[in-house]
Amino acid sequence: MPKETAVYTHGHHESVLRSHRWRTAANSAAYLIGELRPGLRVLDVGCGPGTITADLAALVAPGRVTAVDTTQEILGQAAATASERGLDNIEFALADVHALEFPDDSFDVVHAHQVLQHVGDPVQALREMRRVCRPGGIVAARDSDYAAMVWFPESPVMDAWQELYGRVARANGGEPDAGRRLLSWAREAGFTDITPTAASWCFATPESREWWSSLWADRTVGSVYAKLAVDGGHATPQELGAIAEAWHAWGGQGDGWFMVPHGEILCRA
Ligand SMILES: C[S@@+](CC[C@H](N)C(=O)[O-])C[C@H]1O[C@@H](n2cnc3c(N)ncnc32)[C@H](O)[C@@H]1O
Repeated sequence: MPKETAVYTHGHHESVLRSHRWRTAANSAAYLIGELRPGLRVLDVGCGPGTITADLAALVAPGRVTAVDTTQEILGQAAATASERGLDNIEFALADVHALEFPDDSFDVVHAHQVLQHVGDPVQALREMRRVCRPGGIVAARDSDYAAMVWFPESPVMDAWQELYGRVARANGGEPDAGRRLLSWAREAGFTDITPTAASWCFATPESREWWSSLWADRTVGSVYAKLAVDGGHATPQELGAIAEAWHAWGGQGDGWFMVPHGEILCRA
């Protein structure tokens, strides 16, 4: 892996994958769907467990999707997702977005969902995504923006979670407020035809609140992020425990509302 590669802050703990597996093209790549049609060749960078990948594959079939990530383990999970859905038009490969092992102009669409916030050099990542995209094709990226996340009722301990998450992610080489920076990164990478948009997830029903708060409580004490927070001297296990409790307390409130804003870019290669 090139030195630009940051360690993936969340890791692939079960609590993290619970969030990733909920994702669909409709709730996480709606800005791209209008550009997809049968027959296109798609590269999905940082595919994770592959639920968005599978939706993209269904939309472009009989076109093919290449799904890449940095560990064989997560690619195995993405392959299982594809096979559960009966999709046979996805290939899987290990790859680092900073240095993709594909020839120039290999794909019509190159997509990355919530990946650029975790990499050490997002501008180099976008240059690589552009290189492997054919001229006139689309490079699409969407990232959340942690400092812009808002919730109600107010909770000082969840404020501490937001601040801590930002510190841990940056110490780890990432940029947690990536959403607002996508346009500037794309310009720096040399794109001139860019359509920037924003879209949010909202968790405010009893079921979605319970799901979102539980997975964040579990992530806070059980994922790679928890270890990075403690080993890096950013928080004690007791502080993480208090944050997990605050998540559960928020999740149990009938008025609870949480918004996750995302920046999005569609760039013409
Ligand atoms: C937040 S997850 C998103 C997964 C999937 N795109 C989704 O939204 O469900 C970020 C993914 O990017 C991968 N990743 C991190 N750094 C990467 C890099 N340098 N090159 C390729 N993938 C990377 C991680 O392993 C992880 O699976």
